[in-house]
Amino acid sequence: MKPQEITPLPTHIAFIMDGNGRWAKKRGLPRTAGHREGAKTLKKLLRDIEDLGIKYATFYAFSTENWKRSEDEVSTLMKLFEENLDDLVNYQSENVRLRFIGGRERLSEKLQKKMADAEEKSREKTGLTVTLAINYGGRDDIVRAAKRAAELSKDGFLDPSDITEDGFGRLLYTEDIPDVDLMIRTGGESRISNFLLWQISYAELWFTDTLWCDFGRRELEQALSDFAGRNRRYGDAK
Ligand code: FPP
Repeated sequence: MKPQEITPLPTHIAFIMDGNGRWAKKRGLPRTAGHREGAKTLKKLLRDIEDLGIKYATFYAFSTENWKRSEDEVSTLMKLFEENLDDLVNYQSENVRLRFIGGRERLSEKLQKKMADAEEKSREKTGLTVTLAINYGGRDDIVRAAKRAAELSKDGFLDPSDITEDGFGRLLYTEDIPDVDLMIRTGGESRISNFLLWQISYAELWFTDTLWCDFGRRELEQALSDFAGRNRRYGDAK
């Protein structure tokens, strides 16, 4: 399908990339092989998202709960992030801005440095904004913002009676990124798993049994066509 054939497109699309472990198991491979394949899927999909003209795409790469996984799986994922950040986006040829959300303090210094470098290199880009959520939790995001509001208030910079939804939203990790319009979860589960809780208040949700590693342009276009046909009322009666 040509990009112009699907309208309206979501401004911000978010992905819960589930099913890597099962993709690997089906092939008799270790779970970590599924994550490697998942990183390739992500890279390929970025080109399609750019081509379709979507402005914001956010990916749940590692949750605050994922530390509970085996040491081997956690370290493979961290290595995958380190290895892929340099060539996830070609800053020479692509107008893509890369951003990260989530707590960085628990990540290795090497990874933190690569994240800061990627953000610095792409800061001025005006095309697609790609956000990777690493050590991210929706509740953690809200609690951190609440703490910042309390500190600002304690230091005399914020009157509690001036706190608004917009103002509070700017204290979240996603500060300048618009709310999510469409959230896609692969892998057959129909839950949000602590992703972008504040930011999905009026998002359309799309769940598919397709495993993340098998997700591609065809499935993306299916989700977008479905989204284009939805009637978004935002609580209105129309
Ligand atoms: C969930 O599937 C997936 C993850 C916890 C990791 C997602 C990470 C990637 C796809 C790699 C991203 C790469 C970069 C460079 C950002 P699962 O392991 O829970 O699958 P299962 O439900 O089949 O066990």
